[in-house]
Amino acid sequence: MAYFDRIKQFGVNGFVPEGWYWLVRSGEVKRGKAHPAKFLKTELVLFRGEDNVVRAFDAYCPHMGAHLCDGFVEGNSLRCPFHYWKFNSDGKCIEIPAQVENNNIPGLKSHKIQEAYGLIWLWTGDMSDPEEIPVIPELKGIPTDYKLGSNFLKKCHPNVVMINAIDAQHFRSVHQLIVDLNMKVTPLSKRCIQLSNTTPMPEKNSLLRFAKRFYTKALTYEMTYWWGHTGSVMVGPDFIHFYIIFALRPTLSGHTEGQTILVTKKRKGILGPLLNPIILFATKLVGDYFAKGDTIIFNRINFKFNNPIRADKAIIDFVEHYEEQIGAKNYMTHERD
Ligand code: FES
Ligand SMILES: [Fe+2]
Repeated sequence: MAYFDRIKQFGVNGFVPEGWYWLVRSGEVKRGKAHPAKFLKTELVLFRGEDNVVRAFDAYCPHMGAHLCDGFVEGNSLRCPFHYWKFNSDGKCIEIPAQVENNNIPGLKSHKIQEAYGLIWLWTGDMSDPEEIPVIPELKGIPTDYKLGSNFLKKCHPNVVMINAIDAQHFRSVHQLIVDLNMKVTPLSKRCIQLSNTTPMPEKNSLLRFAKRFYTKALTYEMTYWWGHTGSVMVGPDFIHFYIIFALRPTLSGHTEGQTILVTKKRKGILGPLLNPIILFATKLVGDYFAKGDTIIFNRINFKFNNPIRADKAIIDFVEHYEEQIGAKNYMTHERD
């Protein structure tokens, strides 16, 4: 049996692991306004109440199915645009203008969402068991500045996009990188895996020998992957690390919609506000290089990992980690039960 035939979840359109997936930019959901959003087959209405909190419900009114993004936000409640039924912040129907009693009308299904890094994220798993929104491990507990980078589309599954950053063979062939990367794999949780390079900066010419002074250990290149759809990269010399999060989500056709998030440490004093925009701009250049990379190959790939070799070890570890993921309910056809 070919290796690929044993893979049940990795790169498979229709399997959606429990996790946080980006929906829209925060700025698109204005206070006192409703806004449509979609994740695969699930249509949502988002609205920002007077308390500035964004809530998400199933999009269609339980009365006759009007889309609630055309409705009205009243305080922290949402009123349907058609017959003006009103739903409170939990989705419970609290007012039907045409009659006093409400006949135990079913409420709106609410969805767990969160705002972070200037995006609104949807949790697809069990409501009682959400993970943290991805945080770059080196920045955990440290105040950060961030900026949204670029949007991108790839005509392949998000898992396949994520392979690219740990595919040491293609760094040599496609990108002519003169460093041999060796990605050490560490699982951080059942949904999160880390891959860190262990090889030092090579001393092949005087420039590299000079650069090596700024990398006391290995050449810094570390990826952290959450539920196989969102990843972060950390690169750079010891005195400055650059951090980029790649938030990916699948489309119904099995392609990828991505958004990069540029992150840096908050810097104190007068220097911080001057320096951080420059650092974030430099981070964007790195992020765009990654995001645009290999688009021609990804737009035509028919992913089948039939013949893995020893050099693919990091990818195999990632595939096996992903095969253990738990599938989310209701968003696609692969349901958990
Ligand atoms: S369709 Fe919403 S109140 Fe009638
Ligand atoms: Fe690449």
